[in-house]
Amino acid sequence: MKKRTVLGALVLLGVWVGTGAWAQDSFKVGLILPMTGPFASTGKQIEAAARLYMAQNGTTVVGKKVELIVKDDTAAPDVTKRLAQELVVNEKVQVLAGFGLTPLALSTAPIATQSKTPLVVMAAATSSITQASPYIIRTSFTLPQAAVAMGDWAPRNGIKKVVSLVSDYGPGIDAEKFFKDRFLFNGGQVLETLRVPMRNPDFAPFLQKVRDLKPDALYVFVPSGAGTALMKQFVERGLDKSGIRLIGTGDVTDDDILNGMGDVALGVVTSHHYSASHDSPINKKFVDAFQKANGGLRPNFMAVGGYDGMRVIYEALRATKGQGGGDALLAAMKGQIFESPRGPMFIDAQTRDVVHNIYIRKVERVNGQLFNNEFESLKDVKDPGKSR
Ligand code: DHB
Repeated sequence: MKKRTVLGALVLLGVWVGTGAWAQDSFKVGLILPMTGPFASTGKQIEAAARLYMAQNGTTVVGKKVELIVKDDTAAPDVTKRLAQELVVNEKVQVLAGFGLTPLALSTAPIATQSKTPLVVMAAATSSITQASPYIIRTSFTLPQAAVAMGDWAPRNGIKKVVSLVSDYGPGIDAEKFFKDRFLFNGGQVLETLRVPMRNPDFAPFLQKVRDLKPDALYVFVPSGAGTALMKQFVERGLDKSGIRLIGTGDVTDDDILNGMGDVALGVVTSHHYSASHDSPINKKFVDAFQKANGGLRPNFMAVGGYDGMRVIYEALRATKGQGGGDALLAAMKGQIFESPRGPMFIDAQTRDVVHNIYIRKVERVNGQLFNNEFESLKDVKDPGKSR
């Protein structure tokens, strides 16, 4: 070959590689989230956390350029499924991730199975999700993990009679059932189980009923973001002055909105896997960096699910040396063990579900800001939904 021809070929190759046309060189992650509509805070938190993880850990891993493709499913399950199909077929993503609500993860599970693409659930938390496809891995949490912990704590702390109030879909049903079973086992009494619509709930008539029933406490589950409306109506119905305590899983005092709730939130006790005030050097670094990158926004439990999800994806890419293949990536995701901003966690290789500590927390004011301060912890909690 003549010198000039070789040079020309090299220049062409340079342009080809430089424009990213060499698909082999990139590793694409399709991140599907509700970025608009009533659950947009979940999408915003997870995208910000995923981008933070990438900024901190670099975008080149074992010679591959990691590319995040973010899509807005508007929290509509048929849209999530269609976007996942397009990402797999057209974009050739190697991993699907995100999934802001249970129905969005469930509708997409068949795509993961058919295409053998690992699907990392960073938000949705109904126990059964991981059973919908052998390609699902979860880095968020499960409602039974949090609910059982509260079913143990409440009766040990003077709460004997409870009314439960949950959003009427997967995670709410899990939150109700697993709390109730454990609470009854511990000698408690559930006076009524109330369910409110998942979308645009009007809590007022339900809260009036709670007032009339006069339980020691109201136990609640509402999805991330809905806590503000519940708290407002709790005050409007005078429940804050009625002596009825508020307890629940930590979704209701979500760090994203907690500060805006005001004094009504003080003293609310919840069980959850993550608090922005979790006392560890890793968490302090995470919270500081997240706030710096996002105009002071406080990360919530959705953010930590996204951040840890990216960690699981990065390490699977590293372990498979960039060779790719859904089955190899999936195998490398199973069993990962590491310290998260939430505390220690691992991905159970059998169930593909997250195992982590569950903390009992109380809302307190620290330096003028409201926080869920952890005061008890249960170690290495597996999903209680899996043993049935
Ligand atoms: C789910 C959504 C939430 O916002 C949350 O806090 C817990 C669970 C869900 O749909 O699975």
